[in-house]
Amino acid sequence: MSCPALPEGFDLTDPDLHQHRVPLPELAQLRQTAPVCWIPQPHGVAGFDDDGYWAVTRHADVKEVSTRPEIFSSHANTAIIRFNEHIQRDQIDVQKLIMLNMDPPEHTRVRQIVQRGFTPRAIRALEDALRDRATRIVAGARESGSGDFVTDVACELPLQAIAELIGIPQQDRSKIFDWSNKMVAYDDPELAITEEIGAESAMELISYSMNLAADRKACPAEDIVSRLVAAEDEGNLGSDEFGFFVLLLAVAGNETTRNAISHGMHAFLTHPDQWELFKAERPATAADEIVRWATPVMSFQRTATQDTELGGQRVEAGQRVGVFYSSANNDPEVFDGPEVFDITRDPNPHLGFGGGGPHFCLGKSLAELEIRLIFNAIADTLPDIRLAGEPRRLRSAWLNGIKELRVTYT
Ligand code: HEM
Repeated sequence: MSCPALPEGFDLTDPDLHQHRVPLPELAQLRQTAPVCWIPQPHGVAGFDDDGYWAVTRHADVKEVSTRPEIFSSHANTAIIRFNEHIQRDQIDVQKLIMLNMDPPEHTRVRQIVQRGFTPRAIRALEDALRDRATRIVAGARESGSGDFVTDVACELPLQAIAELIGIPQQDRSKIFDWSNKMVAYDDPELAITEEIGAESAMELISYSMNLAADRKACPAEDIVSRLVAAEDEGNLGSDEFGFFVLLLAVAGNETTRNAISHGMHAFLTHPDQWELFKAERPATAADEIVRWATPVMSFQRTATQDTELGGQRVEAGQRVGVFYSSANNDPEVFDGPEVFDITRDPNPHLGFGGGGPHFCLGKSLAELEIRLIFNAIADTLPDIRLAGEPRRLRSAWLNGIKELRVTYT
């Protein structure tokens, strides 16, 4: 069986395809003619017996899959990527310890605990420190005159935000940043980070975090780690659970926000009217449009727990279902002129942070705060920033990444 709406052999999860572009024309074709379509994967995927997945491309269907966890389970892994042979089954089992890959009621228990760290009050408390950090990052870039926006500007704030949130001591931050960056880069051979290095970095980060949790358990402080792992209370995380939570944050909150910032900057530089508008008015709607436009997480996956129907298509128990946020965010049924970058778009019911189910992004408010702070700092300090070359894209099937964006700052 192949998808009639796509050329023979076309796989939406092929990282080579995404090295050059997001396949928006093909996704539009799917939305129009085969919104739930079976895509064969001749090479299969480690950990799964089947040889393909259902591509779900309409906004309404992506929401339906996301909000029905009893039918569309996260347990069998949510990243819809073509693992190569180096990724072993035991690594997939490790991923099950991460909340992104849990189903209710286990997921509900963990989520209720960890969301205490993400209350509006907790995020507001970070604002001054992050504003200060954003100002310093941008001032550093200005001094260099020109360079790569990704490394000079977009990379640091997301990592600092996670470190602030968790309360990682300053002296440990550079090694945390190093592990985090190595973990997410393995799919791109140009970055010369092998899967072994990525896996080792993940283990180092988990063990560091477990030690941090054990320290706070023994000797509580006034910080989030202490609150999440405080002893004698059933409703808290064990040190090992905390370790995996930090691992998830380092992946979920790092490259996602970095790429939203990089794509947002590229969008502003290629839509000067929107940059002028932003500098003059700083509309509160801008962050959402940046996330819709960028869609840093292009897809996730669920597995059907029973035979069911989706968008008029029969889906069998055990089959994988890929939800394409990149497609939902360009669905003309929902967005007027989705191809237009419009920072005043309102309402903007994009699915960049997920389709609204139990796994909806825990870090949404933090990510939006970071985007607002960094673009305010850029507008204040680098109002004449200019593009100095085409962006270089990350080779990844699920992260819409920019690896390099050459600019002049003054
Ligand atoms: C989950 C996107 C920033 C923490 C998710 C999901 C998406 C997403 C698509 C899955 C939703 C689903 O399956 O329904 C993004 C984007 C971001 C961003 C585009 C930046 C622009 C962050 C930040 C943090 C974070 C800054 C924390 C520091 C998480 C966590 C989950 C998650 C912990 C898993 C929630 C769960 O399983 O219950 N995010 N995210 N994210 N995100 Fe984000």
